[in-house]
Amino acid sequence: MSKYYLTTAIPYPSGEPHVGHSFEMIAADAVVRFKRLRGVDAYFLGGLDENSQRVSRQAAEAGVDTMDYVDEAAERFQSVWNSVDVEFDDFVRTTEPRHHVTVNEFFARVLAQGDIYEGDYEGWYCVPCEAFYTDDDLVDGCCPFHNAKPEWVTERNYFFRMSKYQDAIAAHYEAHPDFVYPETRRNEMLGIIRQGLRDFSISRASLTWGIPLPNDPAQRIYVWFDALINYITGVGFGQNGGETAFERWWPAEAHVIGKDIVRFHALYWPTMLMSAGLPLPRQIVVHGWVDYEGAPMSQTSGHIVRPADVIERHGSDALRYYLLREVPFDRDGDFKWANMSRRYQDDLGNDLGNLVLRTTSMLGRYFDGVVPPADEPSEVESELRAAAEKAWTLAEGHFESWRLHLALGATFDFVSAVNRYIDRTEPWRLARDPAQRERLGTVLGAALEAVRHIAIQIQPAMPRTSTAILGRLGLPPAGPGDWGAGGWTGLPAGHRAPGGAALFPRIEAA
Ligand code: MSP
Repeated sequence: MSKYYLTTAIPYPSGEPHVGHSFEMIAADAVVRFKRLRGVDAYFLGGLDENSQRVSRQAAEAGVDTMDYVDEAAERFQSVWNSVDVEFDDFVRTTEPRHHVTVNEFFARVLAQGDIYEGDYEGWYCVPCEAFYTDDDLVDGCCPFHNAKPEWVTERNYFFRMSKYQDAIAAHYEAHPDFVYPETRRNEMLGIIRQGLRDFSISRASLTWGIPLPNDPAQRIYVWFDALINYITGVGFGQNGGETAFERWWPAEAHVIGKDIVRFHALYWPTMLMSAGLPLPRQIVVHGWVDYEGAPMSQTSGHIVRPADVIERHGSDALRYYLLREVPFDRDGDFKWANMSRRYQDDLGNDLGNLVLRTTSMLGRYFDGVVPPADEPSEVESELRAAAEKAWTLAEGHFESWRLHLALGATFDFVSAVNRYIDRTEPWRLARDPAQRERLGTVLGAALEAVRHIAIQIQPAMPRTSTAILGRLGLPPAGPGDWGAGGWTGLPAGHRAPGGAALFPRIEAA
């Protein structure tokens, strides 16, 4: 069975995860669910980046012990991921002993390669980014991402010899044109490579929080050097008895990350892996950012949308649907309450919810909820079936290439096609004519079969709704290998579909 190992970035444990962070997790979760439906053995890793300088400062400001601070944050973050049905197979907290074991093992390999040396660091450090910057990197003297003046740092540090891997990384990009997706991000990285890779500092002298540097415990490992290693901690690298999991899963098929942290993943991490003699991940998949009502989300100013606020009004599947449908993965998107309500009402309520309700209730009304035998299909049924096949093909291609908004677009085009099919065939009119009884059975059977296909096809994006629809059809939740719905088989005659309440009911204006 083919395997698929997918990771997300591990957020800093400060503040509350907002819908921007959730976008990354939900998109990755949807792709993992898609792979599983395709019968692929998938492994999905998340985590929390707890060794940052920022977190120890925030804990100090709050007058809390740093470990208590991150413990509390870890619970908060994981409960948010649960609330949006992001199901990680494992979750690495970088304060965990197992992560320290993996980091030490990795560090020993890099040290043995002669790739770590002591030197003087002098330059800018942006604490919110946890990144070192040169004068050229700054925009009007400020960090390019945080619009704040970084701190000037002069320290004796240890450095990683990234420059040694200049040719090797260039050759890797050349040989693997899709190593960084999308191409715009790849081109950004090629630009940096062409300018020449510089060694980077991998330790901080002044900190007391973080993983001690194995060869000089008075220093702490620079947070990015340790954080990237989480991707192999999660599959047991260097841990007792963990090599089997590592051999099974590494290299990752994809690291999913936001546009602000590409160079760490597409330059630092691969050169670190080269030094440690480990294979590189197959792809770095970069998404854009989600703004809120036209302006960037910001924890500090409180301009954020919490997943809980959306879930309370619309439910978690509606949030998942909105983010995946409205935000083109590789570009920036926007969370707008008006658009959220519109998508909920139009796409989910009127198109999908109503389709499920009308097909199952007509089966209840005309056939006591029992699927009738199907008669010969006519032209319209063939068209419906062709529309289903087209939706499967398009959705699959789009999922494989991270065009998730187009995958959902293809599925919802099919939802519209089924609604049109019902409007054209007018089962309520057929029901009035006893001579049309068989034709009525054929029409309802085809519509129900189409609903079954939709229920399975939306599972990666909307797992709860998928299960709810299949339940109304009297079927179990979708499982591994169900992508494609096993073909246009139709529900067997005599099968009972119990139906149920309307999905995505109208929300009364507050
Ligand atoms: N701790 C680092 C990642 C280390 S990975 C080894 C970090 N953390 S973060 O909390 O700042 O960001 C976590 C992820 O969320 C990143 O991929 C980042 O791009 C993403 N996002 C943060 N804000 C976002 C939006 N507004 N929209 C979409 N993604 C956002 O970076």
